[in-house]
Amino acid sequence: MLKILVFGSGSIGTFLGTKLYAAGHNVLLYGRRKLESLKEQILINGDVYQLPPKCYQLQSDDYNAILVTTKLYNVQSALEQIKKYQFNPQIIAFIQNGIVDKDFYGEFKNHPGFITVSVFNGYNLTGNKIIVTESNLGLQVEDNLAGEKICELLISAGIRCYTTANISQMRAQKLIFNAAVNALSAIEKKTYGELIIDKKIKEVVDGITQESWTVLKDDYHLPSLAFLQEEIYQLITKVKNHYSSMYQDFISGRNTEIEFLNGFIINLGREKGIKTPYNQQVYLKIVEQQGKAK
Ligand SMILES: NC(=O)c1ccc[n+]([C@@H]2O[C@H](COP(=O)([O-])OP(=O)(O)OC[C@H]3O[C@@H](n4cnc5c(N)ncnc54)[C@H](OP(=O)(O)O)[C@@H]3O)[C@@H](O)[C@H]2O)c1
Repeated sequence: MLKILVFGSGSIGTFLGTKLYAAGHNVLLYGRRKLESLKEQILINGDVYQLPPKCYQLQSDDYNAILVTTKLYNVQSALEQIKKYQFNPQIIAFIQNGIVDKDFYGEFKNHPGFITVSVFNGYNLTGNKIIVTESNLGLQVEDNLAGEKICELLISAGIRCYTTANISQMRAQKLIFNAAVNALSAIEKKTYGELIIDKKIKEVVDGITQESWTVLKDDYHLPSLAFLQEEIYQLITKVKNHYSSMYQDFISGRNTEIEFLNGFIINLGREKGIKTPYNQQVYLKIVEQQGKAK
């Protein structure tokens, strides 16, 4: 049994923490608004689970594992707090979308238990329910010691997690998927499946995929565009009923990860002299709306 802190208990964090708690681990959920609204029992895909203990203020303690499940724009403040409380777990896993340089994690990048996790499932927390839409890729981590440890922990709770030798390529492919559908799901208020039924929106999905592939293909040794497009359509079909977490943030007037997704592609494209009009189109719509909401 491990002692586990979930730092930033929202959709994914609450899911992971609850499953680990049900598997007998000693879990503490740390969060803010989303956590506050949760009752003692939670439904995950219709099954009733006991919610682990919650907290809204950290205290120094010895944790075997810390799962950081905040959005990317909150990772820096999470790192500061983890440093402040001098936590030194055996595993420190960062579970976010997007590609960020390891320097983003400051000194934690050298921690022996440091690992980043790429998520290919969908998690939607509303009210006291989490709807999980699984894909066959599940959760993916780098094939190293820390990767093996986090896989072992998650698998102990029945969560599918795999190590992969091609993690940076997978992460780039996931970034393209997220760039192609997350912002559009928010703008159009549609599920992933609904996006590609509409001919005009599908054209934007394909345009973003093509541009993003052109920007990333050499640095991340990506497969052919046709192969990637096929994979993206397969994943869309698997999670077709899912709205992006950007949609959830967007409708509730929260910040979004647009800078780390389409913003990342646009900036890299600019550096390489590659035009990215489809990415810009969705990027601007999200940023404009966020500006109005502020
Ligand atoms: N949800 C999905 O289907 C999915 C799928 C693949 C990847 N991802 C990625 O996984 C990451 C997490 O996504 P998510 O959907 O679980 O996000 P989320 O539901 O927004 O959960 C993050 C939680 O962290 C809390 N938080 C942030 N900073 C905090 C701090 N300093 N102290 C305490 N709590 C803090 C937030 O509080 P508030 O409630 O106050 O905002 C929020 O509840 C994102 O990078 C996302 O892109 C998500």
